[in-house]
Amino acid sequence: MANFVAGVHVAGWGAYAPSQVLTNADLERMVDTSDEWIVTRTGIRERRIAGPGETTASMATVAALRAIAVAGLDSNDIDLIIVGTLTPDYLLPSAATLVKQAIGNTRAAAMDLAAACSGFVYGYGVAHAYVSSGMARHALVVGSETMSRCTDFTDRGTCVLFGDGAGAAVLSASDEPGGAVGIELTTDTAATYSIWIPGGGGARPASTAMLASREQYMRMRGGETFKLAVRKLGSTAMAALAKAGWSLDDVDLVVPHQANSRIVDALAKSIGFPMDRIFVNIDRYGNTSAASVPIALTEAVAAGRIKQGDRIVLVAFGAGGTSGAIALQWTADPANQKRAESIDADSVKIATPDIEPANPFPPALEWLLSGTAPARATTDSGTE
Ligand code: ACO
Repeated sequence: MANFVAGVHVAGWGAYAPSQVLTNADLERMVDTSDEWIVTRTGIRERRIAGPGETTASMATVAALRAIAVAGLDSNDIDLIIVGTLTPDYLLPSAATLVKQAIGNTRAAAMDLAAACSGFVYGYGVAHAYVSSGMARHALVVGSETMSRCTDFTDRGTCVLFGDGAGAAVLSASDEPGGAVGIELTTDTAATYSIWIPGGGGARPASTAMLASREQYMRMRGGETFKLAVRKLGSTAMAALAKAGWSLDDVDLVVPHQANSRIVDALAKSIGFPMDRIFVNIDRYGNTSAASVPIALTEAVAAGRIKQGDRIVLVAFGAGGTSGAIALQWTADPANQKRAESIDADSVKIATPDIEPANPFPPALEWLLSGTAPARATTDSGTE
């Protein structure tokens, strides 16, 4: 890769997960499923759910402030903000604009990036291009999702899989080598409608009929997605490694998108890589889409699984057949993570428009707030 700087390093990292927990036992009471089915088919035991006062932008802001603190920077040092998300607060303005305002940055270009579960890795690739070309010195990349707000809690095929959260990284120009040395971003159009949300866009705008047919919720052809995910995660990771000039033996840790633990197992087998060098935390978060890689990265550093000099591969696959991988050499001191401890979610304020406030919390999960038992969700207007 042609660089105008010696290296583009991960200088800061951070994550945020909302406090509400939705367990498999809770889901057993909502749809026809079982803890045993969910654990054996997906590896997921629980997932986090954004609270009534939380949105993609608010969670992104907490993760962003943590990453900026870990990098030892001020918010105004950031030149570029990219938020990878499929669940922005609004179609416009972008979530990135709200994050920029909330972190008190007055300088950065800010934009959202739509690549579904690959959103953070795609954002990383775009930010790397900005920083390596000299267009930015410090770039903030965030993956943040409120998947609970586009999940159909009457559909057992999808509602057991997803969760909410945010993760972020600061990429900084450096005179020292290190950081990303191989980047692959690709899109397979064979999977265009394997996972999709039919309604709410320009093709099928919001309408009473659209809501009645539940087109505002995500739909997925699971088996087809599973096979393509395994194939693309493997080929994309290997392409990034080839660009880096590394072999699999050179890699200390793979941090994959956390979609399904069986996908990760199949990935490991398909490329011949040991599971003990793959980071997995899907049991506690489910699939948080664009947030999953940066949440896993942050937890991997905190758990001592990433040390200075380690060679890491981040790899993701998502809706629209997007997939991306970054082969990078880690240079930051993991101990810097303690600088994030002072960032408290309660201090984050997202600018609100002059409009009647709405409760965005999923009606199907209202019982979570009161701690009462859930009821089976069977109709649009009933428990849903
Ligand atoms: N509980 C119990 N039974 C279930 C559930 C459930 N939650 N969900 C499906 N089933 C049933 C099905 O109805 C089916 O029953 P049948 O045989 O009577 O018809 C049976 O289980 C098997 O269904 P499959 O879909 O074949 O199950 P599979 O083993 O493929 O697992 C799963 C389904 C977990 C969805 C899997 O296909 C998967 O993980 N796919 C990939 C998802 C993914 O990677 N998404 C990534 C991108 S997401 C994004 O970009 C936003």
